[in-house]
Amino acid sequence: MDTTTTDTSTFTIPQSPPGSFWFPSASSSVAPEVDSLFHMILWISVFFFILIVAVMTYFVWKYRRRDGVAAEHTSHHNTTLEVTWSVIPSLILVIIFYRGFTGYIDIRTPPPDAYEIQVIAQKWSWSFKYPNGYIDPELHLPVNTPVRFRLESRDVIHSFFVPSFRVKMDCVPGRYTHAWVNATQVGDYVLFCAEYCGTRHSDMLANVYVHESGEFEKWLEKASNFLERMTPEEGGRELYRRRGCIQCHSIDGTAKQGPSFAGTYGTEQPMADGSKVLMDDNYIRESILNPNAKVHAGFRPVMPSFQGQLKEPEIDALIAFIKSLKK
Ligand code: CUA
Repeated sequence: MDTTTTDTSTFTIPQSPPGSFWFPSASSSVAPEVDSLFHMILWISVFFFILIVAVMTYFVWKYRRRDGVAAEHTSHHNTTLEVTWSVIPSLILVIIFYRGFTGYIDIRTPPPDAYEIQVIAQKWSWSFKYPNGYIDPELHLPVNTPVRFRLESRDVIHSFFVPSFRVKMDCVPGRYTHAWVNATQVGDYVLFCAEYCGTRHSDMLANVYVHESGEFEKWLEKASNFLERMTPEEGGRELYRRRGCIQCHSIDGTAKQGPSFAGTYGTEQPMADGSKVLMDDNYIRESILNPNAKVHAGFRPVMPSFQGQLKEPEIDALIAFIKSLKK
């Protein structure tokens, strides 16, 4: 995933802790309980599987047909046996239900004072909006701090899934859903989209960085004002990477989901309706805010609008960046 990586030189994060044979590392407050219940169900299943197959095999052998031996008359039922095989499994199910239900309540209920991050899913990238309004394509979290996510989708159903946190929740267009996590181990993790959402679903990943306490605030402070520290061209290049343009638009002339930006500024471009449009500041701006107004010939109108997601200085920086690209 080099496509949308942030400049990691501003912070250092250790690799994510190793997992077990069954699972990736258990790095959130709810993960140990999820794993423990999984193992309990697994080993109960293994125990009864072996017990039932062994008894069945023994009976098949013991009561096999033999010459000269007539079939025995057997009793119709045995109350002790029947009560035993009803009550024991019922108790086991009650325990599994109790642990599953209380665990579910824990996973669904964030502490009231949780830090909030907005998660925006769209084909085929993730954006994370921090309380100060800064948007990043990677998820940064402080360690040992409850963080609540408000999830939304700009187009189809996506699913927010971080295996190491044992957290998964759908992002549904037209409504908000929620998830929360208290990350317990510093490290870098992967966030997957776990709902098939189209051609590039399998590329819809994001890095998750869990920072030491105190480091998260420093990272946010520094990341938030990157535009002020750069020229418009550099800032535009950074936005091109961070805001997901790079997923569909190359800068080396190759066509991806959308046309390449290389050497296009100031030239006439063919449109799907047969007309020609001059690729200038206004066309770039219009294509960012209302992408389907004039669609480039040879491409499908699949780009989402960035209306309300990019601020004016960011649009200016993107224009400056595209302008700077030579053939
Ligand atoms: Cu988004 Cu799959």
